[in-house]
Amino acid sequence: MSRGHYLDEMRRKFLAGIGVPKPAPFVPDEFQKEAISSVANSVDTLVVAPTGSGKTFIATEAIKAFMLLGLRAVYTTPLKALSNTKYNELKKMFEPQYKVGLLTGDRKIDTEAQVVVATTEIYRNELYKSSERSSLVVLDEVHFIADSQRGPVWEESIILTPSSSTLLMLSASISNAKEIAEWIEEVRGKPCRIITKQDRSVELRFGFLHPDLGVLPLTDDRGRILKEVLHYYGSSDLDSTGMRLRGGKFSRPRKGKRGWRKKRR
Ligand SMILES: Nc1ncnc2c1ncn2[C@@H]1O[C@H](COP(=O)(O)OP(=O)(O)OP(=O)(O)O)[C@@H](O)[C@H]1O
Ligand SMILES: [Mg+2]
Repeated sequence: MSRGHYLDEMRRKFLAGIGVPKPAPFVPDEFQKEAISSVANSVDTLVVAPTGSGKTFIATEAIKAFMLLGLRAVYTTPLKALSNTKYNELKKMFEPQYKVGLLTGDRKIDTEAQVVVATTEIYRNELYKSSERSSLVVLDEVHFIADSQRGPVWEESIILTPSSSTLLMLSASISNAKEIAEWIEEVRGKPCRIITKQDRSVELRFGFLHPDLGVLPLTDDRGRILKEVLHYYGSSDLDSTGMRLRGGKFSRPRKGKRGWRKKRR
């Protein structure tokens, strides 16, 4: 088989099954039901579930539950672009029955609405400025709390949100959920429930977008990095894992010379 055909075959396998799934009745997962019921009972809840597993559904159901009781909600995201997207999604879902607002550094729309989508930074600033209180506060992508630059924004949001409000915190990538929940309980003086989902609803595949060859899987069937990828990086010195690229091959930097590993004494 020519290399071109081989790559076509690899690409076909890599992309197999990707697309819009067949329509099927929507059935909430167990972790979603648990999380919604926890938040609806006004318990601070930290949900850790892999990407694409449906954490937004938990937030929107919780928002509905709070709005039915005449209470307000704020949905925070770490990025203006994500806030704009969520704003459009929530608007479609809730208007005209309920008003949806937006509050970012760039845009201010209906900030008195029952649901306001905001960037976390702006939400935190509002907490410092006003006594305006929300009843449900969704902190999406809460793993930003570990970010060395921006992390304090999430810490302050958690600390400053009045304990009469309920926090719903969502993340795909928190490894120390117990430690974080314990800290939240300590600063907010009330229980914080952790809900986790381990298995992935959406399989992870690693690919490479080659400028000339298009989409390729990163590795072949035997787990070796494709030589087209290696050639592409042939002129670069190191890959992201610290492996040195030499003559188109991955290899560990030579021991000893520059002391990449200290000699044992
Ligand atoms: N129980 C379910 N069954 C089938 N599909 C679902 C279910 N819950 C949510 N979905 C769908 O899964 C998709 C991904 O959901 P969502 O964007 O909420 O993921 P997420 O957990 O927030 O991921 P991320 O960590 O990347 O933000 C959406 O299209 C959503 O409609
Ligand atoms: Mg999400």
